Amino acid sequence: MNKKFLTTASIILLASSSLLAQSKSSNTLPQLGKNSIKEVVAAMTLEEKVKLVVGMGMKIPGASTGGAVGQTQDKVPGAAGTTFSIPRLGIPSIVVADGPAGLRIQPKRDNDTKTYYCTAFPVGTMLASTWDTALVRKVGMAIGNEVKEYGVDVLLAPALNIHRNPLGGRNFEYYSEDPLIAGYITKSIVNGIQSNGVGTSIKHFAANNQETNRMLVNTVASERALRELYLTGFEIAIKQSQPWTVMSSYNYINGVYTSESNDLLTKILRKEWGYKGMVMTDWFGGKDAVAQMKAGNDLLMPGIPPQIAAIEEAVKNGSLAESVLNTNVARILNLVLHSSTFKQYKFSNQPDLKLHAAVARAAAVEGIVLLKNEGHTLPLVSAKKVAAFGNTSYNFIAGGTGSGDVNKAYTVSLVEGLNNTGYILDAELKPIYEHYIADEKAKQPKPKFFFELVPPVPEMPADKGLIEKKAIESDVAIITIGRISGEFQDRKLENDFNISATEMELIKNVSAAFHAKGKKLIVLVNTGGVIETASWRDYADAIVIAWQGGQESGNALADVLSGKVNPSGKLATSFPVAYSDVPSAKNFPGKQTSNDVEMLIGGLQKGSKSEVVYEEGIYVGYRYYSTFNVKPAYEFGYGLSYTNFTYSNLKLSSNTFTDKITASVTITNSGKTAGKEVVELYISAPSNKLDKPTEELKGFAKTRLLQPNESQTITFTIDARSLASYDTKAAAWVAEAGKYTAKVGKSSMLIQQTGSFNVPKDITVQQLTNLLVPQVSINELKH
Ligand code: BGC
Repeated sequence: MNKKFLTTASIILLASSSLLAQSKSSNTLPQLGKNSIKEVVAAMTLEEKVKLVVGMGMKIPGASTGGAVGQTQDKVPGAAGTTFSIPRLGIPSIVVADGPAGLRIQPKRDNDTKTYYCTAFPVGTMLASTWDTALVRKVGMAIGNEVKEYGVDVLLAPALNIHRNPLGGRNFEYYSEDPLIAGYITKSIVNGIQSNGVGTSIKHFAANNQETNRMLVNTVASERALRELYLTGFEIAIKQSQPWTVMSSYNYINGVYTSESNDLLTKILRKEWGYKGMVMTDWFGGKDAVAQMKAGNDLLMPGIPPQIAAIEEAVKNGSLAESVLNTNVARILNLVLHSSTFKQYKFSNQPDLKLHAAVARAAAVEGIVLLKNEGHTLPLVSAKKVAAFGNTSYNFIAGGTGSGDVNKAYTVSLVEGLNNTGYILDAELKPIYEHYIADEKAKQPKPKFFFELVPPVPEMPADKGLIEKKAIESDVAIITIGRISGEFQDRKLENDFNISATEMELIKNVSAAFHAKGKKLIVLVNTGGVIETASWRDYADAIVIAWQGGQESGNALADVLSGKVNPSGKLATSFPVAYSDVPSAKNFPGKQTSNDVEMLIGGLQKGSKSEVVYEEGIYVGYRYYSTFNVKPAYEFGYGLSYTNFTYSNLKLSSNTFTDKITASVTITNSGKTAGKEVVELYISAPSNKLDKPTEELKGFAKTRLLQPNESQTITFTIDARSLASYDTKAAAWVAEAGKYTAKVGKSSMLIQQTGSFNVPKDITVQQLTNLLVPQVSINELKH
């Protein structure tokens, strides 16, 4: 008998015997889907319950399987985790996989010639820069389709932590420094993904704004900063999209691990916001499995054996009420019940990758931000011969690293994209860069551990003579500055946020050589986050933030550079002049507070506690720059177009606020090219009792494609919560009496129309209780 037959035969045997067992038992035992969840829970043994709340482990390359990290099932290779199955009660194992820029699974499988590539979409920062919720929903629909067709049940995304500091290593996965845009982008992508009948896990809940010591850092923040900045985006997403799951974060908030915090996971998330879904930990997050159960963190991922033992013991010795465990179990069962695995969906393993690539390209086009465009440098109409400098022109960065990375089939580089659009790329530069990159990559040490980051190839020093030759031979120069970052590590100030000496020299030399010949220089920034621009921007005629646009990056850029599409992206995060201007600069990434060494990741890593104090309070990003008159290099909400838009006719529905006011404004394309405009509504609130930022974003919209002279009227609704601040003393959202100004503009600084209205008396929008209270006093920034 050959081996293949044996295997097939034994599978048939196994399957029929389990079917038999199931049909036999289904007569007597409750079955998920047929009986109520309550009945199924009642039929579970304690051991089954405990195994269900602890995931099936994870294979970590380089670490022994079994033991500390358990052993996951290989249902979908490369998926981040699975849950325990209980066939006798009809409970299958479900599969969860990353991540925010597209599904992350293994692209190739052993003994299988097929491939399992997924589409790499633009990173979070770029999706937010589209300010286009309908488009983001479409991205979600495409990602969700891949999740479903590859047999995954829950996507571990989107991620929406606030860009507190530009050095945050995972800012690329996150959306913005502002919770309103972060919340609305999240809601849109969640609705898109979940429209496929698969789940999401909005993460990392909450205040996970750095990677440094992420599993042992205590975030010390005021209730007000937490409520107004770090929780609001989650609140919007929970209320408007009901994500199937929420992922708690690694950090402590005011002394308590988020995954062990009843305040956060039960009182705020469930009681205040009405969340009905399930909460899982981040991978190996938190410490005390029993406290996690009590807090309402239902599922521990990826799951390690000691957690099983601890929970079982606690129920047996009475320190964990079985009713609490039952609630956790019931929430997981509810998730399983909705999963495509439970519904026995016959996934194809063949999502329409071509169609999704087109969605990725369209999204990337809309998120590109034009920061500077002197003398109509762009679009490139007459210039055809392009000299492309910078490593990343040839080796484009589609996205960040770690769990936010996608195993894509290809990445279109800038030069490929321009080539596809009919530009003639300098043929001498290409092999020079390609050889240099290949040689440098060969020299790099292999990562010792699976999540060790390989530093990017340093910028190639370009020969001055070569640059001068290219200035004669080409029509225009493009330099791409590339940045990559990812999980486990924050970015660095030097050679990362700040440009390197080699990059500066390249910019200066190319600028001088091309300008001497009357030709222009365009600088593209291929990044997931913010970089310093003030020191070099004067050397460039045009600056384009290309972000990390996913696998179609080069094609999307060519669409914008050629003028096929008019850029309409705007910054959802400020670009400061210098790092020292960042309000959290002196409080990032915190200080070590203990010498005690603690074991992490089931014993695979060690570390000591640290603390980061959010002394800047509510003054993050533009809230700080505008209130304290610190001029950024490019402000929040900023982005240019190839056309001009004029704003007129701001009308408020009333001068006196009772329960809501509408504000309408007319946007006219007053230029010569068709284009779309992002319209931003800011509100300035009176500050009688509470300190207030000069203004805060309270609404945004993107117009349709407006032809020259065409207009569109945009209407915003302003409700009481839009006017309210969190009053810590009163533990309430309060809109203070007084004069409010609605400001509609092109950016946080380019306000075009204003109108004011009056709130006659204080409005308590929502009465809450004091939760997540800091244990120490915080020397918070005040205006
Ligand atoms: C990350 C999560 C991710 C998980 C599973 C963790 O390291 O923080 O965002 O979903 O791994 O891969």
